Amino acid sequence: MTQVDVLLGLQWGDEGKGKIVDVLSPQYDLIARFQGGPNAGHTLEFDGKKFVLNTIPSGIFNEKTMNLIGNGVVIDPIILKRELDNLQKAGHDPVAKGKLVIARKAHLILPTHQLLDAANEQKMGKDKIGSTLKGIGPTYMDKTGRNGLRVGDTTLPDFKERYNKLVEKHKEILSHYDFEYDLTEKEAAFFEAIDFIKNIPHVDSEHFVNGYLKEGKTVLAEGAQGTLLDVDFGSYPFVTSSNTTTAGACTGLGIAPNKVGSVYGIFKAYCTRVGGGPFPTELDDEVGETLRQVGHEFGATTGRARRCGWIDLPALKYAIMLNGVTELIMMKADVLDGFDTIYACTHYEHNGETIDYMPYDIITVKPTPVLKAIDGWKTDVTKVSKIEEIPAKLSEYIAFLEKELEVPVKYLSVGPDRVQTLILN
Ligand code: GDP
Ligand code: IMO
Ligand code: MG
Repeated sequence: MTQVDVLLGLQWGDEGKGKIVDVLSPQYDLIARFQGGPNAGHTLEFDGKKFVLNTIPSGIFNEKTMNLIGNGVVIDPIILKRELDNLQKAGHDPVAKGKLVIARKAHLILPTHQLLDAANEQKMGKDKIGSTLKGIGPTYMDKTGRNGLRVGDTTLPDFKERYNKLVEKHKEILSHYDFEYDLTEKEAAFFEAIDFIKNIPHVDSEHFVNGYLKEGKTVLAEGAQGTLLDVDFGSYPFVTSSNTTTAGACTGLGIAPNKVGSVYGIFKAYCTRVGGGPFPTELDDEVGETLRQVGHEFGATTGRARRCGWIDLPALKYAIMLNGVTELIMMKADVLDGFDTIYACTHYEHNGETIDYMPYDIITVKPTPVLKAIDGWKTDVTKVSKIEEIPAKLSEYIAFLEKELEVPVKYLSVGPDRVQTLILN
């Protein structure tokens, strides 16, 4: 029997998961998203074209790969319909080709979930999470609060009544906020989209994925967000509302832990974060601005400027431990091409001590990063296509990371395009 490989972000999201899942997808029979929702923006580039996927797995452009939106995902039907409409316009129609299925146990994001997200963020003012305003938190709250609506419910004769009942609850909560809204247009779009997603086959993801494994087929679970946004282990409360770690792949698809195979941990050669919350290595200066401009660090979903800083090894070690990472994937090395010197945070100074882990009180007491200077490679690597062409100083940087992190770097990405990817070992 085969196992499920997992690919997930080790930082605060936007590591380049979409690009690499697309690159790896020819090796897999099934790509399965297991958590998160349209807070994700996964960018893929090939043949001079660029696509951003929010809900649909990034295996969609590979002709022979099946794609599953798992039970752990929260789905905004309006956004999913828009994604599919855009794909269809570009000549890709995964539904018509029978390449997309959706878990009937996945929860639905209602227009009022979005309103609740916005009302809550507005009320928190300067202490806000900086959420993507897609309704993620309120939808997962209804899931764990046992109020939610699921994809499978859309086919029940009393779906509209169930919807109205939940919306009444939401309106009651909204009445306690100083928040104005008009639901009419959104509600019409929601029901139109609900009709549309009935055309996508509904499956039980637990049986679907385990069926693939039984037949000896290969499966890759695609994460969204990043480990440091995990609801249990991230920089709480500045996190998302799902388990972004390997454990989330088990609950978000219905696979047992002993069915997990390779775990690909993906990270940028530096570090970014979008939204509020602690970021020990953040560069609030012109160096950070250079990383932002060179790396085009603006959100794929919200367009917000991403905060930028140096690579954070204590945070990466933590993420590797939590996920059981077996192989690393380093992204965006090219963004560091112009730097004479780059830096890696090896420890933190925190409450008068030198530590090598992320402390519990990271929210209230900002750790000071201890930085190691590393020579830059000062070479354009965007056209590097063979291991022998990698500049020596970049190889040294990779070797340093492998020694510190005790996991091999298997892939190196040197640009946004599919072809700008090297296999290292
Ligand atoms: P995801 O959410 O993890 O899929 O990542 P995003 O798509 O949100 O952000 C990654 C961004 O970096 C996208 O704009 C990608 O096109 C781009 N990208 C991916 N890999 C590389 C790379 O190696 N170099 C450069 N310069 N850009 C990259
Ligand atoms: P991908 O999959 C980066 C961040 C938001 C905010 C926090 C909570 O593209 O890597 P939410 O809307 O989830 O309630 O917001 O999480 N966030 C992301 N940051 N990449 C993402 O996804 C993110 N999804 C959520 O900015 O700080
Ligand atoms: Mg993204």
